[in-house]
Amino acid sequence: MEHNFAKGLENIVALESSITFIDGEKGILEYRGFDIAELADMSYEQVSYMLIYGRLPDRNELKSFSDELKELRTISDSAFNVIRFCNYNIEAMDALRTTISFMSHCDPDLNDNSPEANIRKGMRMIARFPTVVASFSRTKHGMEELEPDPELSHSANFLYMLRGTRPSELEARILETDFILSADHELNPSTFTARTIASTLSDIHSSVIGGLCALKGPLHGGARMAVMEAIDEIGSVDKVENFVIGKVEKHEKLMGFGHRVYKTYDPRAKVYKKLAKEIAEDRGDMLWFDIAERMEEIAYREFVGKKGKPIYPNVDFYSGVVYKYLDIPSKLATAVFAIGRISGWIAHCLEQYSDNRLIRPRAKFVRSEK
Ligand code: SDX
Repeated sequence: MEHNFAKGLENIVALESSITFIDGEKGILEYRGFDIAELADMSYEQVSYMLIYGRLPDRNELKSFSDELKELRTISDSAFNVIRFCNYNIEAMDALRTTISFMSHCDPDLNDNSPEANIRKGMRMIARFPTVVASFSRTKHGMEELEPDPELSHSANFLYMLRGTRPSELEARILETDFILSADHELNPSTFTARTIASTLSDIHSSVIGGLCALKGPLHGGARMAVMEAIDEIGSVDKVENFVIGKVEKHEKLMGFGHRVYKTYDPRAKVYKKLAKEIAEDRGDMLWFDIAERMEEIAYREFVGKKGKPIYPNVDFYSGVVYKYLDIPSKLATAVFAIGRISGWIAHCLEQYSDNRLIRPRAKFVRSEK
């Protein structure tokens, strides 16, 4: 029997989902029928509720959902100890993976995989990812961990726990939009990994940890960190041209550019570009934004000239610039992406469990010489 084969599963439809719609030719992205422009005006809590429950919350539902997340932010002393025992040569994604794995052992719903228990476990992870990432970063840099501040929103509290001072309204709103834009993206590699694990009827913590492991890679969420490092390495606008041309000539990847699905401008990158400009202007320092914008121009020109087709920034490009202006260290970038993505992973796992079929593709066997 002949089977379809596409390397990297390119354009293969693996399952049905009602969560996110993407039109890669037109650059359209919707969560649960809401266009990206409408999403950017919502709160992360609202968007997370909608991803998980399939509809927008009313005022009371949103309040109890947000209050519950606030109450769940604190992590146990033993979880803090795991963070403190992490090897500080590792980075935040590894610490997050290890700590979430440890926290799953102590979860009161450990052996309950019912839909209700999975939502409770999901809520704990959404609430605690920021606490773990901020605590790891502070400990790694020799600072005391901070208690969460229940007066602050999800995004403002993360910046407070990371930096030790309350963020401005603009900073909190910009990070909130980042969490929303990062929250879901259909069958991206980390979500596909999480769903594949869920499809074996393994538990939701294991599925999320699988997602984290996939997000870490430089071809996926790891690109955000690489973008920040590239901007530092370039250092000034006049060095951009040589940097980009050098990458193209050596056939090296330009991190933060290109996409498997979008054949036009990633609609999230457009929003991030506006945010990056806004926060750069607010800080009165355009350097990182100007370097990034020049990279975009030169990359476009070089790809059209040498490959006959353009290349556009993806979600990881201007988000990296935004993180620089928010004083988020580059080594934390992928873990901050995960703080946004967790609600999407939870929604996808719930959807997978609700109508499960084991995900098990075939390989095209290629006989090798004996
Ligand atoms: C994310 O899938 C998702 O939805 C993911 C994500 C999400 O929200 O979950 O959007 C998040 O992972 C964004 C992507 C982050 N990764 C990077 O920024 C790494 C750099 N980008 C590339 O490696 C690449 O564009 C990928 C991995 C993102 C996509 O790879 P594909 O689908 O294999 O790329 P392609 O088939 O479109 O590439 C075709 C050509 C190739 O050259 P030719 O063989 O035609 O000569 O374009 C080249 C590629 O080599 N190319 C690049 C490039 N991206 C594509 N060349 C240099 N630099 C790049 N960034």
